[in-house]
Amino acid sequence: MAHANLQTKASSYIPEMDKIEAAPRDEIMALQTKRLAWSLSHAYENVTHYKKAFDKAGVHPSDFKELSDLSRFPFTTKTDLRDNYPFNMFAVPREKLVRVHASSGTTGKPIVVGYTEADINTWSEVMARSIRAAGGRTGMIIHNAYGYGLFTGGLGVHYGAEKLGCTVVPISGGMTERQVQLINDFRPDIITVTPSYMLAILDEFKRQKLDPRQCSLKIGIFGAEPWTNAMRREIEEAFDMDATDIYGLSEVIGPGVAQECIESKDGLHIWEDHFYPEVIDPDTGAVLPDGEKGELVFTSLTKEGFPVIRYRTRDLTQLLPGTARPGMRRMEKVTGRSDDMIILRGVNLFPTQIEEVLLATDWCGGHFILELTRDGRMDELTIVAEARPEAWDGHGLIDHADRIATHIKNTIGVTCKVRAVAPDTLERSLGKARRVHDKRPKD
Ligand code: DLL
Repeated sequence: MAHANLQTKASSYIPEMDKIEAAPRDEIMALQTKRLAWSLSHAYENVTHYKKAFDKAGVHPSDFKELSDLSRFPFTTKTDLRDNYPFNMFAVPREKLVRVHASSGTTGKPIVVGYTEADINTWSEVMARSIRAAGGRTGMIIHNAYGYGLFTGGLGVHYGAEKLGCTVVPISGGMTERQVQLINDFRPDIITVTPSYMLAILDEFKRQKLDPRQCSLKIGIFGAEPWTNAMRREIEEAFDMDATDIYGLSEVIGPGVAQECIESKDGLHIWEDHFYPEVIDPDTGAVLPDGEKGELVFTSLTKEGFPVIRYRTRDLTQLLPGTARPGMRRMEKVTGRSDDMIILRGVNLFPTQIEEVLLATDWCGGHFILELTRDGRMDELTIVAEARPEAWDGHGLIDHADRIATHIKNTIGVTCKVRAVAPDTLERSLGKARRVHDKRPKD
């Protein structure tokens, strides 16, 4: 097989890349300037919403001369997209779209996105690039456990993997027993799945008394939800694999907007020739300099069907200079989105902070939920953390749980209860984990 001699351990990985991935920063910026001018005009001329929004803000695509001019254009929010449900944000006649996807939309209407044939090609290209940056190579087998359907994960990875010349196993999410069986029988090199579902697959390996370190998987491409470096260590150690982070969102294209390179694992390189990132102060909307943390905003540079201009992702991160792909900036691992932030008696808290603390223990393997309740006028947080089978004492690991509560109080500043529960108690996600269970009465 083509990859038989490829050492996929990060230290011995030899990068392969497209010409543009190796291009210097000024070349990429020149390309962005040219493409942004096109994208702004394309949106303005073909989408009523953008025409109205630009006119209202008193800007015209012809005002765009250099990259910094983008800040004069209005933001696009999730509400704008919802208000134009289902097809009013498209910039081409509906018949030109070869596919639509939609976000699950926990509240209200979903957001519908559409792709022309050229958009599908772009998406496949950035996905193929992402898989390769993660260490994937032509000829490898990819076990794709992202959900197929309206969610962009399954089909997005699928097309990219085919484009790279891999053999795709389109298993989708769920049927965990079968996932393990196929991993053993087909011997894939790569797995693509949410990190939380990877933990469920790990449990299943153990349940079947199989050693996950002996399985064929060498590379994991994990995303669609926030996860920590502590979780990376947990998965890498359990499977003896390299775990890399992939980021994307339906509104911008799907998975493949940014990807961590296996040789550096230091944040995600944004494929800046197709997606222009900004980080803004979420309160004032001011553009922040690289290296400052705020809300990530994207403008599509080449999309035909569903262009997005300054789309507010609500994801919190910072932009950093390129490393493994020097011309393309990196984004720091997204540790939370503003929607997931819990404000408990004035203290801000993200589920990933709890993940980090729990994975530092020797008794919790990373399955947990955060329950919010209200006692009188006080909001209360209970962390329900599942014990590893080998650590479970048959009761509640009371001392261990109390110690974690004290540690969280001392480090994060939040008073909470920690309840350790028996292995296999918490419901497993088949895709994105739902960490926060808000049981407070709705006012
Ligand atoms: O989750 C696309 C995707 C599929 C990405 C498979 C990676 C892998 P949506 O369902 O529209 O699209 O959700 C997008 O998920 O705004 C983030 O809040 C979150 N997200 C995605 N990737 C990451 C990541 C897909 N690597 C929303 N780290 C985004 C943290 C992530 N959060």
